[in-house]
Formats: sequence, structure tokens, C-alpha cells
Amino acid sequence: MIIAIDGPAASGKSTVAKGVAKALNFTYLDTGAMYRALTLYVIEMKLDLSNENKAAKFAREVDIVFRKEGEKNKVFLNNRDVTDDIRRPDVTKLVSLVSKLTGIRKAMVNKQREYANNKNLVVEGRDIGSVVFPNADVKIFLNAFLKERAHRRQLEWKEKGYLLYLSELETDIERRDRIDSTREDSPLIQSPDAIQINTTEKTADQVIREVTDIARRKLRF
Ligand code: CDP
Repeated sequence: MIIAIDGPAASGKSTVAKGVAKALNFTYLDTGAMYRALTLYVIEMKLDLSNENKAAKFAREVDIVFRKEGEKNKVFLNNRDVTDDIRRPDVTKLVSLVSKLTGIRKAMVNKQREYANNKNLVVEGRDIGSVVFPNADVKIFLNAFLKERAHRRQLEWKEKGYLLYLSELETDIERRDRIDSTREDSPLIQSPDAIQINTTEKTADQVIREVTDIARRKLRF
């Protein structure tokens, strides 16, 4: 069974997807973390993105693994824990440019489908309901107003001890949304059969409950 959760940057996908996975005892897959891990690799290997074939080869060969350690979902790139590094500002700045390359998307989508392998899964991303798992049992599209999304990202950084400006976060989120929504291959769109939830005025718990209820009704358990 697959629950697909798509939406723009900082719309609350991770918090909601993790919460729903926990409530239903499903496995959680963060496809954004995969594109981020690959982007970190591109930066470290100083990979030239204009050579798309080479970039795609790297994407096919790179090893990206998720491991749950207690309550934390850890990401490993070629056996190295990169859970914190993939959130770095330089990775965030480049990730949409890496993810728009078709060869790279193909490699990542293959890995995502392999990972699914008949599991009960909550998958979050941009193209999950539209491309990766078009037959997902439940499709959710999360959104929130830009100011609220920037504010939430600011709080996340504050909890880690960093002060980021709202205006800077808004600019970054808008830019990523623009690239993600206008790319030729698998742009960020809402599938016609997805249920849209605007989370601006809702708490994370409210949205988690809403999505969990939708899933339970749909899956009859
Ligand atoms: O958490 P945040 O909203 O910052 O973004 P993310 O989910 O970590 O995704 C980072 C970037 O990866 C997005 O801006 C997209 O460019 C790309 N991405 C994608 O192209 N397709 C996906 N299924 C997931 C992420």
C-alpha cells in the first residue's frame, strides 16, 4: 500500500509523512532526501552537470540508504551519515538544478520503486502521485502560503541554533518552487485524483490526523 504526499517546498510534507507513517505503522520514504544526498555528492565530487550522461551514471551508481535509529531517520551516502549535511544551504541552493536532469530523475525513480518493493509506505516528494507511483492508494497534495512556509523553515533552523532571515527563506523557497514546477521532466503538479490540504492555519497534528483518517477510510482499516 502506498500513500503519496506531494507538495511545494516547506509545505509540511516531512512532518506529516513521518507522523502518518508512525500512526499507521508504515515505512517512511523521503525522496527529497535522496535528491539532496545526490546533490551533496555532486558538490563533493565537483561534478559538471552539463555532462548529463556522466551525472546520470553517478546517480545510478551512488548508494543512498535510509536507516531508522530510534526516532531519527538517518540518510547514508556511500555508507557515510549525511543526515545533517544534506540540509546545508549550499545543497538546498543547488538541489533543484540537479533534480531537473532527466537521467538523474530516472535513476532516483528506479531506486524509489525498488525501495517500495511491496512495503506499506508513506512516500513524500514532488512527483510521487503523478509519476513515481501513479497507482498509489492515497494521494495527498499539501500546500501552505509562502509566508507560513518560510516561517516554519525559520523555526526549524532556530531549533538547530541558526538565525535565518524570513526574506531570504522566502526567496529560496519561491525560487525552488519555480524551478520544480516549470521543469520539463516530472514537474511539481497536483494529480487530478489527489486530495489537497492547505496547512497554513492547521497544526501538524491536525493534518496528520486528517491524512490518517483519509487513509484509514480508503484502505478500510
Ligand atoms: O523539504 P524541502 O521542502 O526543502 O524539500 P525536499 O523535499 O527536501 O526536496 C528538495 C528538492 O528535491 C526539491 O526542491 C526538488 O527539486 C527535489 N525533489 C524532486 O525533484 N522530486 C522529488 N520527488 C523530491 C524532491
